[in-house]
Amino acid sequence: MLEAAKRLLKERYNECRRKVGDKGYFAHFADEKLHHSMQVFGLGKYIYKHEFLNKTAEFKGIALTSVLLHDIGRFKEFEELFKRSEGGGHNVKYDHSQLGYEMLKDMPEFNDVRIILPIKHHGHLLEDFYSDEEYKSIEDDALKNEVEEILFLVRDADKMANMYFFVDAKDILDTMLYKIDVAPLSDEMKKAPISEKVFSGFMAETVINNRYAVSAPDQAMRFLAWLFDINYRTSYDYFEKHKLLKKYIAFLRYYQIGENDSFIIEKKIKEYITKRYEQLKG
Ligand SMILES: [Fe+2]
Repeated sequence: MLEAAKRLLKERYNECRRKVGDKGYFAHFADEKLHHSMQVFGLGKYIYKHEFLNKTAEFKGIALTSVLLHDIGRFKEFEELFKRSEGGGHNVKYDHSQLGYEMLKDMPEFNDVRIILPIKHHGHLLEDFYSDEEYKSIEDDALKNEVEEILFLVRDADKMANMYFFVDAKDILDTMLYKIDVAPLSDEMKKAPISEKVFSGFMAETVINNRYAVSAPDQAMRFLAWLFDINYRTSYDYFEKHKLLKKYIAFLRYYQIGENDSFIIEKKIKEYITKRYEQLKG
């Protein structure tokens, strides 16, 4: 199954590159997403190894397939956005999670709720997953539980890969390359403080909606706040092992966030991680 998943990822990437051309914005994004998929796959394997003991080889193949293909819908999204930029296509909002879900649902080899439902909800609010009719209608509790376990795996691996990547990517943040349709970051935005909404959301231990992140330090805070939506101990282990808190504080200081604020942020994260380790013990 995994081999077929790797082939599919490559095929969809190649097809996307054929359609959007060799240069420019969308080609760059397609390349980024292929790299991202491989990074998330690596993280997924790491988390799996420590968290999923006593599982069958079949389950492992299914779980890691969902991880590897979680962003497969991105290629279709880029193709459509490219078409639009050339004056064609439809003026609708594309949800790459939904596009990936629909694509794999039509492929008998991958049409398994443990693969497609985690992909459909990897970037949504968890409430959306729990109220999904297809999920709710699964009668077998063990299967339902596996869908949830894999969803958590995909979400953790995705967030940790991005947290690791973005903390060293100030140049990417400076140009906002990762955001489609957004102008380069102005000097004003780089020097702006953390906005109030972002700071209060962070202190309330919630993830921060991209809509509220209007400055560079807001974006750094948004990446850091993904930590409030993590499910497995091993993901926190990864965060600690790579000293990501220290790096995020340095990241914020680079954007001229004061000592007092950075101290409060550091303390908040340390206390939060201690609390989560306690909750996830055993
Ligand atoms: Fe995604």
